[in-house]
Amino acid sequence: MSARREVVAVPSGVDEPVVEAGPARSSRRDPTRPVDPSPDPADLAVEARLRPRQLHEFVGQPQLTEHLDIVLEAARRRQQAVDHLLFAGPPGLGKTSLAGIVAAEMGVGLRVTSGPALARAGDLASILTDLQDGDVLFIDEIHRLPRPVEEVLYPAMEDFQLDILIGKGPTARSLRLDLPRFTLVGATTRTGLLTGPLRDRFGFVGRLDLYAPGDLQHIVSRSAAILGVTVEPGGAAQIAGRSRGTPRIANRLLRRVRDFVEVRAEGTITEQLAADGLELFGVDRLGLDKVDRAILDALCRRFGGRPVGLTTLAQCIGEEPDTVEDAYEPYLLQQGLVQRTPRGRLPTARAFAHLGLTAPEASGGDPGTATLW
Ligand SMILES: Nc1ncnc2c1ncn2[C@@H]1O[C@H](COP(=O)(O)OP(=O)(O)OP(=O)(O)O)[C@@H](O)[C@H]1O
Ligand SMILES: [Mg+2]
Repeated sequence: MSARREVVAVPSGVDEPVVEAGPARSSRRDPTRPVDPSPDPADLAVEARLRPRQLHEFVGQPQLTEHLDIVLEAARRRQQAVDHLLFAGPPGLGKTSLAGIVAAEMGVGLRVTSGPALARAGDLASILTDLQDGDVLFIDEIHRLPRPVEEVLYPAMEDFQLDILIGKGPTARSLRLDLPRFTLVGATTRTGLLTGPLRDRFGFVGRLDLYAPGDLQHIVSRSAAILGVTVEPGGAAQIAGRSRGTPRIANRLLRRVRDFVEVRAEGTITEQLAADGLELFGVDRLGLDKVDRAILDALCRRFGGRPVGLTTLAQCIGEEPDTVEDAYEPYLLQQGLVQRTPRGRLPTARAFAHLGLTAPEASGGDPGTATLW
């Protein structure tokens, strides 16, 4: 495959600042929502401690970890840098943790940046030229790289080369630099937004799925041990079952339940205390919060199971349609509580059951509702 050559303009005599920042987060995050998968400041403060450091500490995702183990071992045996790796999946499932694990397992340095932080080609050039042989460069939210920056990455990933233009106008000179053989680790929550040429340059793409309850229970117990909290298996299972398949949410709910248990002056998180605490925080046994339940309530009770348009539904619960669609609906769809149809949103029989309601009888003449129960 021939690399597309892009030239990075670096003004002569001027060092481009390396802008490295944490990933920019969606403005739609609701900080009061205990089950939001994006990190809040308290999560960020504690996540560094809870993050698995080695592959064997990384719970779950068996296919991915097995495959990754082989990729790392093969690189170690050949004494080469690991192939470029892309980790894709919803927020809070362990993509950043895996980037750190790759660097630790290979015993190399880790540079962290993100798509939005690399505003200009020169920002990336400064980071690339500063890498050591074998280093891992982690670009979070790689789907948000500006196009000109992305094009600098192609020859860097493929041939470990960087073309730099020094100066401006008639005195400008072009310079080709050899880069160290680094490993690019990209993370994205939106694989669909990644361009084909970028995706094709990764030797390995690992997709992270929502975690099974058993794996989450294991993560809760592991985090509890690190935080010095005693949790009974039933308590860990309660927390895991309400964490929407997401380790970050599991860790957050664990911390909230720990506080609840401390205030109650009980030492241990039992199943009952975990359930009581989580009910108090408004997280029910499916991991739904009060807005999720308000959506189901509107669909089941107020509209009686008839199809409802997104805008109407959003108005009913006092949210923006975009927020309902992006932040609330995916989990309700994934849980089989809501269906999207051309005529609007419909609750399923499971939604009625979850609210303790009886689903209305199928009305023979209405095909939209008749298919549901
Ligand atoms: N497999 C796992 N085993 C144990 N803990 C995990 C695992 N995956 C994630 N975690 C925990 O969840 C937290 C969030 O994980 P991480 O930051 O790696 O997610 P992410 O996919 O990078 O999220 P984002 O998309 O928001 O950047 C970590 O601090 C870690 O404690
Ligand atoms: Mg991350």
